[in-house]
Amino acid sequence: MKKILVATEKPFAAVAVDGIREVVENAGYQLTLLEKYASKADLLAAVADADGLIIRSDKVDAEVLDAAKNLKVVVRAGAGYDNIDLKAATEYGVVAENTPGQNSNAVAELVFGMGVMAARNMYAGTSGFELKGKHLGIQAFGQVGRNVARIAKGFGMDVEAFDPYCPDKVMEEAGVKPLHSIEELYKSNLFVSIHIPATPETIGSIGYDLITLLPKNGVLINTARKEVIDEAGLAKALEARPDLKYVADVRPDTASELEQKFAGRVFFTPKKMGAQTAEANINAGIAAANQVVAFLRDGIDRFRVN
Ligand code: 3PG
Repeated sequence: MKKILVATEKPFAAVAVDGIREVVENAGYQLTLLEKYASKADLLAAVADADGLIIRSDKVDAEVLDAAKNLKVVVRAGAGYDNIDLKAATEYGVVAENTPGQNSNAVAELVFGMGVMAARNMYAGTSGFELKGKHLGIQAFGQVGRNVARIAKGFGMDVEAFDPYCPDKVMEEAGVKPLHSIEELYKSNLFVSIHIPATPETIGSIGYDLITLLPKNGVLINTARKEVIDEAGLAKALEARPDLKYVADVRPDTASELEQKFAGRVFFTPKKMGAQTAEANINAGIAAANQVVAFLRDGIDRFRVN
């Protein structure tokens, strides 16, 4: 009997696990759960006899792949797959997939939770400002960016986006003004929301030069990856511009330093919370389970990323 391991350092909601179990068991496979594991050794042991693996932000590197002698497919229940060593997966003959779009509404809603919090001075009791009528710039118009645009309309915001990989037409149809330079995005929007993946091209790409282009009282919202920020540049920008705020659903490496220096102007979730809703867990978790089964049973690899 084929074995499917769900390895989640940050567990899915129980209802999502029930759904995953149903999909796996209906296919005649066996489900094993490894949640909140404390060390990599636990993952290495659990993965040893797995044919399929479902993960979230859990790291799958060459060591994990080497320990997983039977592994044929790993599905990242979520969008970003920077936690999987794709080259190693290919070398070990393991198919890697993600579940694009399944948790994007959850992340997009959090953008506004964080945006309102920043606009209201982190709920410190002082007078803030409203989102209505303000400009919001979306950096990358993928699944999350599109949901952000949809919700922003409800707030009455003017929405612009920069995404060299997305045709203008797609943005225009969503009522979003396409911009053609990243500088323009930062210069003309009070709020900028980051939705780029972490890739060699994007890592460390947002620093002093871009951040200081933000208009007075600008707010930078990062629900993407900490790695896309040049943290030294961010600190320098916050120092130079006491009107700016940075809120992120991902704790930077220099979080304590930033919190100390820029108290009331920065906020970081202790753990990545964007996709941490029952709905996102159900959508992404069950999609991942269906994809694992589809691959193991029928060889279908529609969402393959390696
Ligand atoms: C994603 O890439 O899908 C999000 O960052 C969610 O990550 P998580 O599954 O670790 O919450």
